[in-house]
Amino acid sequence: MKLAKKCIVLVGCAFGDEGKGKVIDQIAHEYKNSLGAIVRYSGGPNAGHTIYQNDKKIILRQIPSGVLHDTKCMIGCGCVVDPYVLKSEIDQLNEIGIDIKSKLVIAANAHVILPQYIAEETNESKIGTTKKGIGPCYRNKINRTSFRVMDFANNELEFADHNFLDKEFFSFTKDLFTNQMTVSNVSIDIIELIKKGKYILLEGAQGTLLDIDHGSYPFVTSSSSISGGACTGAGISPLTIKKVIGVTKAYMTRVGNGPFYSEIEDQYVNKLIRDNGNEYGSVTKRPRRVGWLDLPALKYAVLLNGVTDLVMTKLDVLTGCGDIYTLTNYFKEGDKRSLKEYPDRIDCSVFDRHDGWLEDISQCHDYKFLPDATKRYVEFVEKFVGVTIKSLSVGPGRDDIIELV
Ligand code: IMP
Repeated sequence: MKLAKKCIVLVGCAFGDEGKGKVIDQIAHEYKNSLGAIVRYSGGPNAGHTIYQNDKKIILRQIPSGVLHDTKCMIGCGCVVDPYVLKSEIDQLNEIGIDIKSKLVIAANAHVILPQYIAEETNESKIGTTKKGIGPCYRNKINRTSFRVMDFANNELEFADHNFLDKEFFSFTKDLFTNQMTVSNVSIDIIELIKKGKYILLEGAQGTLLDIDHGSYPFVTSSSSISGGACTGAGISPLTIKKVIGVTKAYMTRVGNGPFYSEIEDQYVNKLIRDNGNEYGSVTKRPRRVGWLDLPALKYAVLLNGVTDLVMTKLDVLTGCGDIYTLTNYFKEGDKRSLKEYPDRIDCSVFDRHDGWLEDISQCHDYKFLPDATKRYVEFVEKFVGVTIKSLSVGPGRDDIIELV
């Protein structure tokens, strides 16, 4: 039996924090009743999405950010889950009257972050991790010594494992998985929803350049954040994917260490963009490093993920920043670098200059009313990466958007 193409994958095209939460919200709104589930397929509480319900701010780390919509919210097996953080997310949602218990589904084969994994990460590492126990949990998963949701929910632990786990942690986690959500085979749930004609929105965490295989290794996270990760991390067939929506900011940021070829050296402009864009980690509060758009890297992300539609966020943040630059080429010792070698070390970045603009664009809803300089910038990016920009986000609100197609 052939399943219909009902999966929409949303993926970050850079180092995470591209504004995926708002785009998820928009797509969920667009598909409304035909949406069967929103599914997280990778990462853990290292991610952070801020959502607002009647001015109340909620930070979600593991629960998919489309939780305010009338649809199931699933955590796939590609994720690692911290029970204490999950409980605090559930409490926040209950407080604002969202019946999360009836919506939340967790994969029985997702892995659980133990307190000792977090303790392992207390010292500074050369990578600059979020210290949420992500690396140790994925390490043990691959080493086949980790614990899965089903081990707690179904009480399927061996006596020796019981002794290894802290008793309080065990009973807390068992109670959480048993009484506050549904533990299930998420892959089968998705298949059933597709058979009923429903769409599935797969929500990526982090970004392409932090992918364990395709990112700037070793300065990456420990999971498959690219669109391909949705197939393993949620358990879907690649043939069910209808669209891949790539999200990029109008500039770039990175948290943690590692190469960032387009980082802005001018500290005044760097700080201006950081402050205008509120570029501080929602999980760690760390100031994010700020750079111009690295176009070969974006093009690499577009090709690797099979992006069909690109969304550019935070275009308004560039207002009043003076000239805008884009990284358009890399060189290594006099040789022109080809972009497929993106993750390798480089000696020199080449930038193109673009006119900036001073006009406030945050109230603009129609592309034709944008300043000419803004349009030239957007069109330059679109032409370089060779994929249609579907929409431009010009402010934090749901309506602060310019649809292009
Ligand atoms: P880990 O995921 O905590 O192991 O951290 C590995 C690297 O990924 C570090 O450089 C983190 O700052 C970065 N990272 C992890 N999650 C996110 C995210 O959601 N946004 C941005 N950077 C992230």
